[in-house]
Amino acid sequence: MTKQRSLAALVFAGAFAIVASAPALAAEETPHPPRQSWSFAGPFGTFDRAQLQRGFKVYHEVCAACHSMHLLSFRNLSEPGGPEFTKAQVAALAAQAKVQDGPNDAGEMFERAARPADRFPSPFPNDNAARAANGGALPPDFSVLAKARSYERGFPWFIFDIFTQYQEQGVDYIVALLHGYEEPPQGFALPEGANYNKFFPGHALGMPKPIEDGRVEYTDGTPGTLDNYSKDVAAFMMWAAEPHLEARKRIGFQTMIFLLVFAGLLYFAKKKVWSTAPHAPEQHA
Ligand code: HEC
Repeated sequence: MTKQRSLAALVFAGAFAIVASAPALAAEETPHPPRQSWSFAGPFGTFDRAQLQRGFKVYHEVCAACHSMHLLSFRNLSEPGGPEFTKAQVAALAAQAKVQDGPNDAGEMFERAARPADRFPSPFPNDNAARAANGGALPPDFSVLAKARSYERGFPWFIFDIFTQYQEQGVDYIVALLHGYEEPPQGFALPEGANYNKFFPGHALGMPKPIEDGRVEYTDGTPGTLDNYSKDVAAFMMWAAEPHLEARKRIGFQTMIFLLVFAGLLYFAKKKVWSTAPHAPEQHA
């Protein structure tokens, strides 16, 4: 009996080892982005306001030269649950940007300073212009990019992820991507105009290294390092992709508490309702 059991355990462990090592072998091609710690992870996560404000600065001063963010308006920056800039800061920020409006009385389109209600203007007039300026590669819109990127976690991680509620693959990937520029290994045929990036699937990325140490000046004393820039801008992109993340997590938890209490009430109500009902009649021969 015990022999049989230990044999079964051995077979099971062997099968597990094979299945678990398969994704590890496949992953040698494109390494998994390292896990970062995020203030907004987990069921009680909230954004770090200062981090979002720094991340916006990085986006505004660097990434916005190529990447649009057309689903967000300037006014979103002052809403609760986000970077929470003041209304005056947002108005001043919007006023620096130009948007197209019109037609006016003469039927012509005209440019004016942006207002908080305006969407973020795109750096290029259309996708073809964006491609032409970037060697044929289209810089994807930032609006939902942090949630549109992920990577295969593989077995058994995707099972654990359900319980640990790991939802930060996108931001972990973005941080890794900004760190992932390297010299291509011997024998790698890098297409003309592409850049080798360890974490990009296929490794030939159309985006040149966009940011390095000292590129953006932080005003809150945080050191201006690539590490901080990439985490801050990724956190900002997560907020952009899900501006109501904090409310979702808060309401989710409240709902679980409610359901728990409700389940208890239902149980006692059921007991009370059925307490006076007679038992099933006894069977008579
Ligand atoms: C000089 C223009 C330029 C700048 C500046 C720039 N990007 Fe990009 N980015 C691109 C292009 C072009 C692509 C598309 C690359 C491709 O598809 O090969 C891209 C793609 C990306 C992607 C998607 C990669 C994927 O998995 O498809 C991310 C994420 C990204 N950029 C983040 C950033 C961040 C963060 C910044 C600012 C720190 C930034 N970019 C600044 C041009 C730029």
